[in-house]
Amino acid sequence: MINGLKRIDNVNCACNFALNQLYNYDFTMIIWSMSKKFFITTPIYYSNDIPHVGHMYSSLICDIFSRYKRLFGYDVKFSTGVDENSQKVVQKAIEHEMDIMDYLDMYAQKHKETWDNLDMSYTDFIRTTSEKHKAFVQQVLQKTYDRGDIYQGEYEGLYCVGCESFKKETDLIEKDGKLVCPDHLKEPERIKEKNWFFKLSKYQDQLVKFYENNPGFISPHFRFNEVIAFVKWGLEDFSISRETNKFGIPLPFDESQVTYVRYDALLNYLTVCQGGDEEFWPGIHVLGKDIARFHAIYWPAMLLSAGYQLPQKEIVTGFFTVDGQKMSKSLGNTVKPLELVEKYGRDAAVFYLFYDLVIGSDGDFSYARLEASRESMLSAGWGNLVSRVSKLADKNDISLGKKHLECFDLCKDDEEECLQDILSLTPVMIEELLETKWINYVLQLWYRGVQAANTYMQNQEPWVKLKSPESAQEGRQHLEFLLYVVKQLALISAPFLTEWFAKIQTILGNDLIAKVSTRETNEHWRQAWDLEEFDVTLAPDILYQKLEPSV
Ligand code: MSP
Repeated sequence: MINGLKRIDNVNCACNFALNQLYNYDFTMIIWSMSKKFFITTPIYYSNDIPHVGHMYSSLICDIFSRYKRLFGYDVKFSTGVDENSQKVVQKAIEHEMDIMDYLDMYAQKHKETWDNLDMSYTDFIRTTSEKHKAFVQQVLQKTYDRGDIYQGEYEGLYCVGCESFKKETDLIEKDGKLVCPDHLKEPERIKEKNWFFKLSKYQDQLVKFYENNPGFISPHFRFNEVIAFVKWGLEDFSISRETNKFGIPLPFDESQVTYVRYDALLNYLTVCQGGDEEFWPGIHVLGKDIARFHAIYWPAMLLSAGYQLPQKEIVTGFFTVDGQKMSKSLGNTVKPLELVEKYGRDAAVFYLFYDLVIGSDGDFSYARLEASRESMLSAGWGNLVSRVSKLADKNDISLGKKHLECFDLCKDDEEECLQDILSLTPVMIEELLETKWINYVLQLWYRGVQAANTYMQNQEPWVKLKSPESAQEGRQHLEFLLYVVKQLALISAPFLTEWFAKIQTILGNDLIAKVSTRETNEHWRQAWDLEEFDVTLAPDILYQKLEPSV
């Protein structure tokens, strides 16, 4: 363990409870990749509606990891997209009396707009109706068929279009005397038709061996245990084609049938690597708990059969409720990302989601907590620090930020010691924290740094010292040091507080810091991090406007 990190772990702080919760997960990460390639994926979202906050959350995990990885010198591929070969999408298009492709184009566009508005730094946006995807899926199907892993059989069973999956009677619940899907509260369709099946059962032993050899494959660990238990219980082959629905990708060995979401969707992760990006595979998947079996069992088996490497890691997220209630269209409480951004700003929404909710656990989204964290932590904490330091320094014609060791050594009490620890971090240590303790931890650590810097300012009172000739020099030193602290804290926050980081770049007015970008791989962040003395041309500005009181 690196010394500085050990110290940070031991500091008493308000967020220790949340940190301890994090330690309970087996978050041992992966990625000390030698090749310096980093590939991360969101699930592809159904295109029958606009994205909600659950989708935004998994996309943000990918975005934040991608941005950090670029700063650490990785060549990053971050893919997202829409899942289109779906029966429920077709049904919705028909309900809206729209041509299916027009309907899909419209939603693909809306998804893109949402992610662009949220400033997501994705590199690939895949649509599963694209020719590239269709051709690749057919190629994999043929390989799998040639290996003898696809066979024809008769399927009789219940299919829930909402879930896009087959159900057993034991999966259903009773409502008004009928057996319905517990999630969609609708009776599944009874289907009897000829289908092609994938020999999942053949891969049971290989899967168990793979899990045993890769104990960090799924996070959090309790999800991994669930998957292993399920596989050991015994796997059944699954149907990969439909005879009656025609919207999907024709099987190369039987054009009368199409494959659809249950088989083709997963292959999107490999489609995006075809045609030049093959070396990015294997990647890391971020996905929700409802599709964990699909990703952790079906997908590796499909890859084993077709002869590809298995994913590096799967990060499984929980489900959100909203103010204690299930999020649903019928309750009208769906949280829409664009509305959040409009009302609170992108960065406040991001900060709240990762400060308040632990990756992997179910969590409750609360507007009140979002507002409170924006006002008291960001506005009064970070905004206030940046604005007080830059204004006071500007007023006193300070044109330098400096890591004054005398000031550094003044951070002695418990809270300020945390600042010393943060300032002692190296980029390698920050990367290790991100890998092992994840985004929540880095964000919480950053916020403790903000609190510590505010305490330092309060204790040292540079504005008082500047007023008398005997202590003016000392006051100037404090401000130069605080400018250095603002720079370090801003650099840590760059991958998650993207808008405010851009503002701080302007406020500080330093050429190198202005070049730092989390959108492309570059050395500037590391160089800026190492600057112990730097020029500033200050342009103080307000970071956060106060929110209008909610009615
Ligand atoms: N199309 C499939 C995924 C195929 S990936 C090869 C799908 N799409 S989805 O649009 O229904 O869901 C996408 C993601 O959103 C899933 O990871 C799901 O877990 C997540 N969420 C859906 N509702 C959610 C909440 N209420 N809270 C948090 N995330 C949830 O599944």
